[in-house]
Amino acid sequence: MSLLKNLDYEVVTTVKRDRLPQTIAARTKRVYDILSTVYPLSTYFFHSKAHKLALQMSGIEDGMRVLEIATGSGEMFRRLVKANRAGETVGFDLSPKMAARTLKQVRRDFPASRTQCHAVDARYLPFAEHSFDAVVCCYLLELLSQEDIVLALQEFHRVLRPKGTFTLVCIGQNAGAFNRVYRVAGSLAPAFWGRQVDERVPQMVRACSFRMRDWRQVRQSGYPSRVFVAEK
Ligand SMILES: C[S@@+](CC[C@H](N)C(=O)[O-])C[C@H]1O[C@@H](n2cnc3c(N)ncnc32)[C@H](O)[C@@H]1O
Repeated sequence: MSLLKNLDYEVVTTVKRDRLPQTIAARTKRVYDILSTVYPLSTYFFHSKAHKLALQMSGIEDGMRVLEIATGSGEMFRRLVKANRAGETVGFDLSPKMAARTLKQVRRDFPASRTQCHAVDARYLPFAEHSFDAVVCCYLLELLSQEDIVLALQEFHRVLRPKGTFTLVCIGQNAGAFNRVYRVAGSLAPAFWGRQVDERVPQMVRACSFRMRDWRQVRQSGYPSRVFVAEK
């Protein structure tokens, strides 16, 4: 018991001395874990139009091997599974509660479909290269630092097969009043809101060896989104 206490003491003092800053990912994980039960509301009010458009633009066909990155509470994931009943749809989220909720609902609604959803960090994917025909990612890049965006995009490129499609949804930056509100929200709770990156996306995606094929804007309840489709 006293050995344990000494160990605790040493760990605590080492961490204090070290002052290694807590990564934003740790806070993001905690905040999305806490909000996992109410998060579907945000999809209902702000994201569902963009999800629908993303699925249309993605070129995903039944029978493919599809990966969704950062599923959140699983609204887009359910769309993907529904469109891909003969294929395999894999998802993940940094928040274990989001991933568990997504998997539970999809297994209930589509028991015959081949699906998986686990807690994984988008910067380090546990999949072999060229494993997927299509990769989809909605509203994640806003939450990653610049270096982490590059790490994540390189991972998406690695796991996608040649000529496979990468569909990305970001918060649009084409609405001035919305941008001002978002900046304030982002400065108050960066781990939840992040910051807008939409205007830098084409350049970042190309820098990670994707070829940008198409993009479109959509707005729902005043919330702007942009859907990009790129190819490996
Ligand atoms: C704004 S929500 C979007 C959820 C969903 N994609 C949607 O369209 O509604 C962002 C999600 O990204 C997840 N996330 C944040 N950082 C992540 C990371 N490094 N790896 C995987 N998921 C991450 C959060 O846990 C959260 O569920």
